[in-house]
Amino acid sequence: MEALGDEYPAGLDTYSFVSRTELREFAAQVAAGDTLIDLGCGRGGPGLWVAGTAGAKLVGVDLAQPALAHARRLADRLGVQAAFTVGSFESPPLRDATADVVMTVDAFLFTPDKRAGFTELARVLRPGGRLAMTSWDYDGQPRNRPPQVPDHRPLAEEAGLTVLRYDETDDWLRRCQVFADFLLEHADEAAAEAGMPTSVLRAALRDMRDSTDLMTRRFLLVAEKPR
Ligand SMILES: C[S@@+](CC[C@H](N)C(=O)[O-])C[C@H]1O[C@@H](n2cnc3c(N)ncnc32)[C@H](O)[C@@H]1O
Repeated sequence: MEALGDEYPAGLDTYSFVSRTELREFAAQVAAGDTLIDLGCGRGGPGLWVAGTAGAKLVGVDLAQPALAHARRLADRLGVQAAFTVGSFESPPLRDATADVVMTVDAFLFTPDKRAGFTELARVLRPGGRLAMTSWDYDGQPRNRPPQVPDHRPLAEEAGLTVLRYDETDDWLRRCQVFADFLLEHADEAAAEAGMPTSVLRAALRDMRDSTDLMTRRFLLVAEKPR
């Protein structure tokens, strides 16, 4: 999307603020032959790019069936080995210690219980495996969103992970506001396309725009599960 500038990863059908620089940061955590899990993978673009770049096997997990159908078509188009399965942060359908790397892009804010979410992320990682994620810290509770937290590091550490990086991402607030404004401007077309009442979509987009006032940081976290 033009409003997000040169850092927008065109061609990946992303539905997030992930940038090209961040995708490279994710890929740097992954080695050839690794099993990479992308939780809240949506239409699959970020995980597919990272897996394709690093030569990893991807397992994408999301709540939304239609997004996963899209992800399977994208995997074929990009020629990346991948499997996609329905599941959530709260109970991903994945065995213990099966992932070399878990990634999640702009989706963890939707899990209703961040502590339980980190416990699950840590459970599926093998010892020595890494978690790489982007999400937001909040100073307050946004409307119509699950409970948010002011800092994700203590929860990651409580789940037994060692936080290696917690960096504020570039230009995040402006990008969030520009994106929310763009969606609001195009709410009528989007509602028609989705077959939903414009008033419902507008209210949701207003909540999204207002929630940016409570965000204090969009972070890129890298954490390791000790051996
Ligand atoms: C903003 S989109 C990001 C999608 C993708 N990561 C990307 O970068 O394009 C958030 C995704 O989180 C998924 N999601 C919401 N709640 C979830 C949950 N509790 N467990 C797993 N995924 C969830 C949504 O279905 C959606 O695909």
